[in-house]
Amino acid sequence: APAGAGPAQPQAQSAPAAAPARTITILYGSETGNSQTIAEGLSDKLKARDLKVSVSSMDDFKAKKIKDVEDLFIVTATHGEGDPPDNAIQFHEFLLGRKAPKLENVRFSVLSLGDESYEHFCQTGKDFDNRLEELGATRIYPRVDCDVDYEELAEEWVNGVLTKLEEEQGSQSTAAIAEPTPAEQPIYSKSNPFSAEVLENINLSGRGSNKETRHIELSLDGSNFSYEPGDCLAIYPKNDPELVKQVISTLGWNPEQTVPINKQGEIRSIQEALTSIFEITRLTKGMLDKAASFFKNDDLLKLISDNEQIKQYIDGRDLLDLVKDYPPADLDPASLMHWLRKIPARQYSISSSWKANPDEVHLTVATVRYNSCGRDRTGVCSGEIADRIKPGDVLDVYVHRNPNFKFPFDESTPVIMIGPGTGVAPFRGYIEEREELDLKGDTWLFFGDQHFRSDFLYQVDWQNWLKKGYLSKLDVAFSRDTEEKIYVQNRLLENAKDVFAWLEKGAHIFVCGDEKRMAKDVHQTLIQIVSEQKNVSKEEAESYINQLKQEKRYQRDVY
Ligand code: 2AM
Repeated sequence: APAGAGPAQPQAQSAPAAAPARTITILYGSETGNSQTIAEGLSDKLKARDLKVSVSSMDDFKAKKIKDVEDLFIVTATHGEGDPPDNAIQFHEFLLGRKAPKLENVRFSVLSLGDESYEHFCQTGKDFDNRLEELGATRIYPRVDCDVDYEELAEEWVNGVLTKLEEEQGSQSTAAIAEPTPAEQPIYSKSNPFSAEVLENINLSGRGSNKETRHIELSLDGSNFSYEPGDCLAIYPKNDPELVKQVISTLGWNPEQTVPINKQGEIRSIQEALTSIFEITRLTKGMLDKAASFFKNDDLLKLISDNEQIKQYIDGRDLLDLVKDYPPADLDPASLMHWLRKIPARQYSISSSWKANPDEVHLTVATVRYNSCGRDRTGVCSGEIADRIKPGDVLDVYVHRNPNFKFPFDESTPVIMIGPGTGVAPFRGYIEEREELDLKGDTWLFFGDQHFRSDFLYQVDWQNWLKKGYLSKLDVAFSRDTEEKIYVQNRLLENAKDVFAWLEKGAHIFVCGDEKRMAKDVHQTLIQIVSEQKNVSKEEAESYINQLKQEKRYQRDVY
């Protein structure tokens, strides 16, 4: 309660208020219109009883909203071979798929229409009925399967459902008092990450691309996490088992032997410790200094006496290189925790909107592969995602808020987004959220990558949003399709007049992606644009841009 709010007000929840009216959702999957007619008939009868009802074809229903539904009645036909009718395909796929949420709060009943002469009689209705139960929903009236002369049985079902709901209405006051106590929820965080199931893992890069950029979708169902456009998801990766194996065999250890992994005395097998707990893909000066005292290797002692040499050595090398180049004399596996770092979480800009997908988070991850010191190597996390993570696997994650990359949510503030490569990720989440909130207005995206054909990330999404008006302008720069390289900043410059006009109208600018080259050059280009358009010195243009920064109208998420 606000401080000094005067005499205590009665608490809302203690007032014997009537339970809020439940909204009944009726969905139909119709081939010839019979299901629709029955669904609408049921809807009319419910409305006549003063109940709130929404009735629609499955196609017109946002499948992800299924979690908010309380009473669900499904009337559906079935195609000859047991397939759903056209306007039920997507919903059917969603509900039967991996992404379907738990539906413990849903009460349901299904009416299916079919033809007994087919082997898969009423299959679609059966699918929905079984799946809803599987997802934890409560069947309040048994499914009825109708043959081609469906009328009588359908009416029985409609009446059965009505009677059931009336009985429940009568007992609603009791139900309102017996509020279920929410089950205790663990709190997930950096120190207690949530194991998120991977729902999708797709390579966005087309044939012929020099890159491998993955789109992954993770389930946050049960995590209690939420996020805003601009936030990041942190992942604790696991090391490549092949690399772990080589390290262990080089050291001549038994992978099953246990070692302590922290001061609290927790133990893990060497195998597990080197896979999930300790970082083995990067060497640091601090680590080398500590390792030297355990390795009892004279050459290593010599190396660490010279900072320049250390710097040179650790660049592009990992633990396997170290134990091969400087074999330890007699290394106690129990010492690992004293000289190895814990694997740090990797952060990725989220590329989805939580409001549009409350139980999911999407990421756009460029796979890092390179050769160094004669060995092919991959980024720990991006390599794991590319090479070892399949749908159904889990990743340990937590949401990392980014207060320095916060978007405006109104139709009057113009927004300029500059995001080449995977830098486009947060803008996908942002525009998806604007669509969810039905916010139009001025939004301008500058995207760039190497090739139009293979690297235009989320091309279909952008084109849809352009069509619907949630994105108002799109400029792209493909650097390797033409003789001369074209980058996002070239596009900015070509549009200098409009860019400046937008700034003068109060636009916010967002830059995401490569820091050293792109973000630096874009920054210079912005200064150039202001200087030329405003006809002021470079210094004055710089202070104009700095002013934008101060007002949080120029925000960057660069790496
Ligand atoms: P390039 O690899 O052909 O040089 C996303 O990675 C895009 O950013 C690619 O098209 C890449 O082009 C481009 N890029 C490279 N350096 C850049 C820079 N300094 N400014 C803007 N974009 C750059």
